[in-house]
Amino acid sequence: MAKTKIAYFCQSCGFESAKWLGKCPSCQQWNTFVEEILEKTNTSIPNWKSSPAPSQRANKPVQVADITFTEEHRLLTPDKEFNRVLGGGIVAGSLVLIGGEPGIGKSTLMLQLALNMPNIKVLYVSGEESDKQIKMRAERLAPDFGELRIKGQESRAEFGKGCYVLTETSTQNIFKQIEELQPDLVVVDSIQTLYSAHIESTPGSVSQVRECTAELLRFAKESSTPVFLIGHITKDGMIAGPKILEHMVDTVLQFEGDRHHVYRILRTIKNRFGSASELGIYEMLGEGLREVSNPSEILLSQRDEPLSGITISATLEGMRPMLIETQALVSTSAYGTPQRTATGFDTKRMSMLLAVLEKRCGFRLGAKDVFLNITGGIRVEDPAIDLGLAAAIISSHEDIPIPFKTCFAGEIGLSGEIRAVNRVEQRIAEAQKLGFEQIFISKYNMPSAAKDKKRLDLSRYTIDVKPVGRIEEVFGLLFG
Ligand code: TYD
Ligand code: MG
Repeated sequence: MAKTKIAYFCQSCGFESAKWLGKCPSCQQWNTFVEEILEKTNTSIPNWKSSPAPSQRANKPVQVADITFTEEHRLLTPDKEFNRVLGGGIVAGSLVLIGGEPGIGKSTLMLQLALNMPNIKVLYVSGEESDKQIKMRAERLAPDFGELRIKGQESRAEFGKGCYVLTETSTQNIFKQIEELQPDLVVVDSIQTLYSAHIESTPGSVSQVRECTAELLRFAKESSTPVFLIGHITKDGMIAGPKILEHMVDTVLQFEGDRHHVYRILRTIKNRFGSASELGIYEMLGEGLREVSNPSEILLSQRDEPLSGITISATLEGMRPMLIETQALVSTSAYGTPQRTATGFDTKRMSMLLAVLEKRCGFRLGAKDVFLNITGGIRVEDPAIDLGLAAAIISSHEDIPIPFKTCFAGEIGLSGEIRAVNRVEQRIAEAQKLGFEQIFISKYNMPSAAKDKKRLDLSRYTIDVKPVGRIEEVFGLLFG
């Protein structure tokens, strides 16, 4: 009988301590320690090909110049948005974590992917649903699913041909099945349900999650098989269990969106094989997720007449320009304390904008309720949306609509200056592509030297580019 060892783990950051602590010395959170039983059991339990301990495989230092490098082979999926967020396809032997709130569509995304790759063997391991439930979901995803279907795939017989389902939670059993099946890709739904016999504590606990991930990591690297892990996210947006998971895996993707809206965003948080600012957009339909290749068109609502309080901002999410509609409502507060609510935008930043409008432009917003909304359930962090939001607030306050076919891209500073934003050319080009007639940008984005002129060549655009330096100028131009 092996000796039982007890340790305490911080549920927030994974810090390990021999005794219980009220406050975590690592992440400073209170009351996050839970007891877990660690039992380093006899090593007779089979594991992923019990490989020699790292210390026995001595590596020698080599000069960088001597390291031979071959372009990694990437496996392309039929889902273009997915390829994009991964940095151009799945890298062999990579371990990818997909996080997201419950019910957002993680299982749907991965199952859909598994079903649409008939030319390779995909093992979908589920510890959350029974095989009948998975079959039901697959049936839903099956019929005539146009865009994700591989070209030339005519019959439904092809659909899901390479997809094998395994309902199992013990990692040792999973590895046994993997050795038999020899899959080309493994999906694990979810890491929190897995259980390794090497550790005594319950599934989902910090030490289990860590151990199971470590075993899968070793499997991925040694067999060069890519592994996708689905992970749940806690209320405060952390991948449940330890932050440590994020350090172990190669790529972290986050699937997010408002459950009451149809749009979902797959965002790269970390990527060892590509840019960490990529973004994929999907629409959740009754028959699964559909790629959205032109986001701007769906994010702009169709209107016949100009309404006050609505503006369009040219934002950039990752490398992609996107035109987003923002709405503001300013009304006299019925209660003593004015309300400030923002959906899809940081409330602190909104307070800052209101303060700038009050102090620099003399609008009396102190006793007003202000509501801001970014349509489509999307969260925007790009500061270039400031100018559009400020214009929406004033448009609602004055009850004057913003002219049709006008959009904005500029950050607002504390003194009311409009600051330059990055990649302004891309934003202008996107606005022009969608038929906008004028765009307000910062005058600091305008070319000042001859060499800059080459970069931002305004003669290329037919759209009217209006450079502005201060927020008052914008209102002067808009509202006269
Ligand atoms: P699911 O993939 O189970 O979420 P997660 O694994 O992240 O917890 O998705 C759940 C939601 O998606 C559920 O509320 C129903 C919805 N849904 C659709 O709208 N269309 C579909 O085709 C499927 C399969 C699910
Ligand atoms: Mg699920």
